[in-house]
Amino acid sequence: MNILLIGGGGREHAMAWKMAKSHHCDNLYIAPGNPGTASIGTNVAIDSNDFASLKQFAIDNTIDMIVVGPEEPLVKGIYDFFAKDESTQHINVIGPSAEAAQLEGSKAYSKHFMQKHHIPTAGYAEFTLDNYEDGIPYIKAHSLPIVLKADGLAAGKGVIIAETHADALVSFEEMIQNKQFGDASSKVVIEEFLKGIEVSVFALTDGKNYQIIGHAKDYKRIGVGDTGLNTGGMGCVSPVPFMDEAFMAKVEKQIIAPTIQGLAQENLIYKGFVFFGLMNCGGEPYVIEYNCRLGDPETEVILPRLQTDLVSLLAATDNGTLEDVNIEYYEGSFATVMAVSAGYPGNYPKNLKITGIETANALPQIQVFQAGTGFDGEQVVTKGGRVLTVTSQGNDLQDAVQKAKTALTNIHFEGMYFRNDIGFEFK
Ligand code: AMP
Ligand code: GLY
Repeated sequence: MNILLIGGGGREHAMAWKMAKSHHCDNLYIAPGNPGTASIGTNVAIDSNDFASLKQFAIDNTIDMIVVGPEEPLVKGIYDFFAKDESTQHINVIGPSAEAAQLEGSKAYSKHFMQKHHIPTAGYAEFTLDNYEDGIPYIKAHSLPIVLKADGLAAGKGVIIAETHADALVSFEEMIQNKQFGDASSKVVIEEFLKGIEVSVFALTDGKNYQIIGHAKDYKRIGVGDTGLNTGGMGCVSPVPFMDEAFMAKVEKQIIAPTIQGLAQENLIYKGFVFFGLMNCGGEPYVIEYNCRLGDPETEVILPRLQTDLVSLLAATDNGTLEDVNIEYYEGSFATVMAVSAGYPGNYPKNLKITGIETANALPQIQVFQAGTGFDGEQVVTKGGRVLTVTSQGNDLQDAVQKAKTALTNIHFEGMYFRNDIGFEFK
């Protein structure tokens, strides 16, 4: 099978690494990829949102399957673009239709969906310029803290947790009146704050059936002890100790099964990954958000843990055999620790030389996944805030984290920072 993978971050490096292990994978192309994926397949210099060029490339290279990493092309309709065109409709595009991708692309859409299908989530209301005045007394009467969310995609920045009514009112005005997040915040969802521990659960669906393919806990704050600014994710562990059989059974019965049934009932075309962002509130699972893709850096632990062949699994979404697939995991625990640029998630320098990736990668049970890296001639340099992540397998969670941190001592770039306490609450 010839596969075109779309995206160029750590998630896509991990997806490419996993797919390349499959004997069903013939040629693997990554658009645009990064220096990490360049050592696995062929990088193609096409932007993830340039559908016309991707189509031409897919035809010229007899692509059988397109796997979409990031959310933006999905929300912009890449599935529909290929499905509607006679010359490309034979290609198995892994990702939901644009309509179904609204589960991630619009917070209000996903809230309606959850309410309609009785899926546990925080109570909410939605506001636009039209009912802006109603929002003010609503906020003043709301319990604290108050969660405000820009309805649309805002590059992971559209959620504000206000500790006071005054702060919430300022954010509300900023979002709706001053378009803080552009069109994404022309509608705002205001919801209850859920107190608990977050966990990300991943499923693959064909729109009717599903398989759970893993879960992980992501450490989102920049600072040790979950302090400081939010980031795209500083590290992950999998499996998570509290995700025992009893809790997983609740997640499946109350959340995953009704979500997939909801997709089927509403005739939404959805052949791809579903990312359930959950909160464990005293033993009861609630949905914080849906994403229509895999997580980053969650992918960098769930795919190394997954023993099942990923290419066969993806192909099963297209030939009606998803129900029959056997999901198997490797033994032990997995951890990934993200190395970031100095200053991230604020401003940071770029084009700094990175050394030691090969040395770290050669260590047993270690895999380095590159995220914000690029080539400067032959040399690999920093290009983003989250630069690379080191994944390890250990006998238990703490062993895995320790191995990843030890491997990271081989890797250097100026100002490199990583959290040294990933998995801290499970000691
Ligand atoms: P999102 O952009 O939807 O992933 O939200 C970013 C982060 O905000 C989440 O990962 C949570 O940590 C937090 N968050 C979002 N909604 C809530 C909520 N209702 N209660 C508590 N925390 C929340
Ligand atoms: N790690 C969170 C996300 O991918 O959205």
